[in-house]
Formats: sequence, structure tokens, C-alpha cells
Amino acid sequence: MSETNWIPVSQARQTDAIGQRVEVRGWVRTRRDSKGGFSFIELNDGSCLANLQIIADQSLPNYDTEIVGLSVGSSIVASGEIKASQGKGQATELIADQVRVIDRAPPDYPLQKKRHTFEKLREWAHLRPRTNSFGAVMRVRNRLAMSVHQFFQEERFYYVHTPIITASDCEGAGQMFRVTTLPLERVPTRNGQVDYSRDFFHKPAFLTVSGQLEAEIFACSLSRCYTFGPTFRAENSNTSRHLAEFWMIEPEAAFFDLHDNMQLAERFIKRLLSDALHHCAEDMEFFDQRIQPGLLAALELVLNSSFRHMSYTEAVKYLQDSGRSFEYPVQWGHDLQAEHERYLTEELVKGPVILHDYPRTIKPFYMRCNEDGKTVAAMDVLVPHVGEIIGGSQREERLDVLQQRMAEMQLDEKDYWWYLDLRRFGSVPHSGFGLGFERAVQWITGMGNIRDCIPFPRTPGWAEF
Ligand code: 4AD
Ligand code: MG
Repeated sequence: MSETNWIPVSQARQTDAIGQRVEVRGWVRTRRDSKGGFSFIELNDGSCLANLQIIADQSLPNYDTEIVGLSVGSSIVASGEIKASQGKGQATELIADQVRVIDRAPPDYPLQKKRHTFEKLREWAHLRPRTNSFGAVMRVRNRLAMSVHQFFQEERFYYVHTPIITASDCEGAGQMFRVTTLPLERVPTRNGQVDYSRDFFHKPAFLTVSGQLEAEIFACSLSRCYTFGPTFRAENSNTSRHLAEFWMIEPEAAFFDLHDNMQLAERFIKRLLSDALHHCAEDMEFFDQRIQPGLLAALELVLNSSFRHMSYTEAVKYLQDSGRSFEYPVQWGHDLQAEHERYLTEELVKGPVILHDYPRTIKPFYMRCNEDGKTVAAMDVLVPHVGEIIGGSQREERLDVLQQRMAEMQLDEKDYWWYLDLRRFGSVPHSGFGLGFERAVQWITGMGNIRDCIPFPRTPGWAEF
């Protein structure tokens, strides 16, 4: 198929296409045969939410044999001239002088007129990108991915590729997927223990939960870097905001303190928002109308106000004074639950809030200890509807304090010798954070479930495709 005059539907719908002879290619969304001896075909090729209206006249040689009765889901290639449309809902239409039917979809094509639930559509991960909602999510996701790179490149961060297979547990939460070539049905042992010398890497290996520790190496050399890659968590969380495989963006910067880190996070989030609003206006309008009414106004408001900062200690006070009876009681030193985060961001602040300085006992070993001896320089960004989208901190750059922390948490220094080396050879204060990409997509699109914000979700009991 020559590329000579092919254009995507998104372009064919623009008035400046009027008068052009073009070819369009895609899938039939609807077809209506008019009494006047022609058919309207609504064509979608995924380049935008809207369809292109194609007028196929009965004078076409295959009109009676192929076009009348052309089924939803069929693939076609049509060529002709783009004209100004008289009808409502579109500025242009294609007057076809050829419609080639590439493949007819039989009547059991699942995406007929009936609207399916998102749950049902997840079972058809191979077809759901052809729906309005999922197509829109994927276009926004694409745009956001590009904005991630643009933003960090403009901020002079270098993109580094951190490993997917790793031997270190960054978050220390023990929620890692194992990577092994040992036969599960007959695991070799020595002295009653698994004999890892026979395994591929000669030691236990896992899928990474975060690229942070490796990113720190590059922050302590290239000064500023970021990762953007898949991360894996084997937590058995069946919620609307957890995936077993998700993408994370992790900037890491030398000579950066917690305050710099919070500023960077706010600039970054606002950039993602404004790019989605400006570059995906049609899709965002759709989410506002069909998925989450009021979304656009809420996002505009975020864009035009400063993020509220609140210490963990203050947050606990607000929660305790709220007069709410939460399912999980609020107590200083305990992790905040989703219901607490929702109260803070949706009801108290009514917008994003950056919580900082959490109790050291509930945070990983790498976070910098504060002078009070009780808290660490941690930060979480919470947003309405999704909760935590960013987790980050200033890192402990003092060798002795870090060693003490690791001992407290019963981590073996031998496993982190290189991480400790960074504190021995020209250590610098540095900070970073991780943004869960799908949670950002979920927040910005207003989608109710994170499983609909990634092409192929992996969750407990689900790894189809
Ligand atoms: O808060 P987390 O666990 O932080 C880290 O992994 C740090 N090492 C990041 C850093 O400082 N470089 O995860 C960061 C973010 C969360 O705020 C959340 O948005 C997302 O990753 N996330 C998940 N997203 C989807 N499904 C899950 N199971 C997620 N777990 C975390
Ligand atoms: Mg976190």
C-alpha cells in the first residue's frame, strides 16, 4: 500500500484537507444505507476519537455486492476527495470514488452497538483499543509518555535505562517476583538450602520494584537523570489502583534537597496536565463528558494553584480532628490508608497535597533521617480520586547514618556495597521520586480503574495475552 496520499482520519477531519484527494484506511464503526442510493460509512483509524464520514455512492462498482450490508468492524481502504460536510458533527467528509473492503467482520464481532462494561472489555484486550474510551486513554498515554521525556530533557536530566532484572530489593517490602532458571519441580539444594550457585545468576534474582538505587549511581555522576521503565510488584492487591506490572518515572538529582524535589514534582505534574489538556483536547473533552463529569475544571484548577504542603504529623492531626470514623484508626507512626489519603486530598485540601516527613519506621532504609530522630525526609504526592501518585525522598548521604539504618532494618551491607560506596567517594546530598505512570494516566483521564490505563494489565490471577 503506497503512502502517496494516505492521511490519518485526524487530518482528514480538518478543514484544510478540503479539496485534497486522499486515501484513508481503518475500521467501520457504523454504516447506514440511505434511501437516496448511497451509504454513510463512519470510519475510525485510531488517530483521533471522531470518525470520518465517508459517502459511498451506488455508482461504485462494488456498491451492491460489498457496501450495502458492510458490517461493523470490517477493515476498508477508501479514496476520494475531501469535501466540506453539510451534515452536523463534522466539518469534512470523504466522497469516495473507491472503497476496497479488505476484510469483512462476521456478525460475532464483539464490539457491536451494545455498550460493554470496562470489565468485559478487559477480556478482549485485543479489541478494546478500537473502543472510544480505550482509544482515548491510549492516545493520552502516548502524549504523556512524550511529555515525560520532553520535560526532563528540558530540565537537563539524562535518560538512563536501569535494569529490569536485579539482585537488590529497593523498597525492602519483599514484594518481588523471582527470576530463575532452576526447575521448580526439582529445586537443587545444598545443606537443606536452595543451591543458587546452580541458578542462572549464581544468586537470587528478581524483577525490579524500582530503578531508584541504580538511578542514584547516575545522579552521583551525570548529576541529573531519570528512568522510565517497567517495574513489578508481587503484592496481592486487588484494587482499582494496583498493578503487578506498571511503568514508573524516576528522576534523581544530585545537590537536590527535599524542597527542590517537591518543586520538581509539582512542575512535572503540571506539565503533564497542561500537555494533556492542550494536545489531547478532544479526548479530554470526552473524558469530561462520558467518564468523569467536572474533570476538566478540576484539572484546570490544579494547574492554576500551588500544591499544598503538609507534614505527616499535621496530616495525622487533621485526620484525628476530622470527626470521621475511619475503618483504620489514625495513629502517629502508622501508614496512612487509602481512606485517609482520600479524606486529605478530596475533602480537606480538595486538590493535590504533598505530605512530607514521615515516621522513619514506616519508610525504606534509603530515606534521609531528620534531626528529630523520628522522621525521614520523605514526600508523597496525593491527588483526588487516585491517592498517592508519587513517592520520593531525599536520600541518606551520610555513610554512618545509612549503615546504622541498614543495621536497624537487618539489611546486609554486603548486598549494598556499591550503594554504600556512593557515600564513601564524594557523597552528595541528593533526592528523587517515582511517579506511577498508570496512576497519572488514571488521574488525568478520570478512568475509574488503573487496569484500563495500561494496554495489557497484569494483576493477581490475570496475565492473559
Ligand atoms: O512509593 P513507591 O513504592 O516508591 C518507590 O518505588 C521509590 N523507589 C521511588 C523513588 O523514590 N525513585 O512507588 C512510587 C509510585 C507510587 O507513588 C505509585 O504511584 C506507583 O509508584 N505505584 C504503583 N502503581 C501501580 N501499581 C502498583 N502496585 C504500584 N505501586 C507503586
Ligand atoms: Mg509509596
